[in-house]
Amino acid sequence: MIKKQIVVGLLGFGNVGTGTYQALEMNREAIKEQSGLDISIGKILVRDPQKDRSISIPPGVLTDDAGSILNDPTIDIVVELLGGLHPAGELMLQAMNNGKHVVTANKAALAANFKALEKAAIDNGVQLRYEASVAGGIPILNAIRTALCSNQILEIKGILNGTTNYMLTQMTDHGLAYDDVLKTAQEKGFAEADPTDDVEGYDVANKLSILIALAFGTIVSPKDIPTKGISGITKEFIGEAKSRNNKIKLIATARNNGAGLEYRVEPEEIPFHHPLAGVNNEFNAIFIEGNAVGELMFYGRGAGPLPTGSAVLGDIIDIGKTIVPGRV
Ligand SMILES: NC(=O)c1ccc[n+]([C@@H]2O[C@H](COP(=O)([O-])OP(=O)(O)OC[C@H]3O[C@@H](n4cnc5c(N)ncnc54)[C@H](OP(=O)(O)O)[C@@H]3O)[C@@H](O)[C@H]2O)c1
Repeated sequence: MIKKQIVVGLLGFGNVGTGTYQALEMNREAIKEQSGLDISIGKILVRDPQKDRSISIPPGVLTDDAGSILNDPTIDIVVELLGGLHPAGELMLQAMNNGKHVVTANKAALAANFKALEKAAIDNGVQLRYEASVAGGIPILNAIRTALCSNQILEIKGILNGTTNYMLTQMTDHGLAYDDVLKTAQEKGFAEADPTDDVEGYDVANKLSILIALAFGTIVSPKDIPTKGISGITKEFIGEAKSRNNKIKLIATARNNGAGLEYRVEPEEIPFHHPLAGVNNEFNAIFIEGNAVGELMFYGRGAGPLPTGSAVLGDIIDIGKTIVPGRV
């Protein structure tokens, strides 16, 4: 039996926005049955409401007016899926100041504004959730926040970028050159036309900054994380690593060494027998060590409309449950 309807305003209807919409369409009835929440998408902000879309949307739902979402008293949760720093950061703050819970997948805007966004959530008594911002469909942030909160986290090592992991896998498995692999990745849609954020490691630094905040309770700006990408990796480097029974992977590391926190993003040689060496192509994984639980590894799809939409929708449902405690 339904206790309350939850109305969501989406900011953005690109890859993740459509994935979130589709995940809700696929599972709406099951979600109602399991949580008692009837979730609907009330309005969707886009740049161009007239553009042809792969999904048909009821008339009047698409808008280019952010205010019509942020000031709509029927909207409970604002989901930011625009990408970039501006206006994403400002709109999230405004939504919380208007008393709305916020969910985002935008690691860049989140990492750049972490303190201000967390403060706005506390000041306004609303929730800020961002599971999809790190490793897409892998529920690593929830795991750290809930089941692993009984631990002191000793180390996190992650493969957090599918584009670069795809490229390094292709170079390793087929002896291909960096430029050739980048071109194929772009043709297959695994790499952006401007791949800088991915190949230079900036995207991973944003994600590591968020992981550090949750796992170690320390705010480290992405620009303060020593970051090296894969653009200098040649097929010769890969071949030399192989001769030592290692694979080169772009690794985000944060480690409590007893005296303090060490962190970096850089290509590392990982021994063939290490679980991270088996993480190939566009897949992501996070290897984590807690002082009570020991070593764990989380593996799955770090991007893509439905895996990322699954994480976004999970956050929406979790928030919805707190708006509507228990079932009728
Ligand atoms: N793609 C993934 O698999 C993935 C995975 C994890 C996290 N993320 C994160 O999720 C976020 C969204 O990524 P995406 O791949 O879905 O992006 P995208 O495909 O480029 O979609 C962006 C959407 O936002 C709208 N938009 C952008 N700027 C706007 C503005 N100023 N005003 C109004 N509408 C605006 C666009 O409108 P139009 O449709 O009219 O152009 C589009 O619908 C990013 O922060 C990304 O880092 C993505």
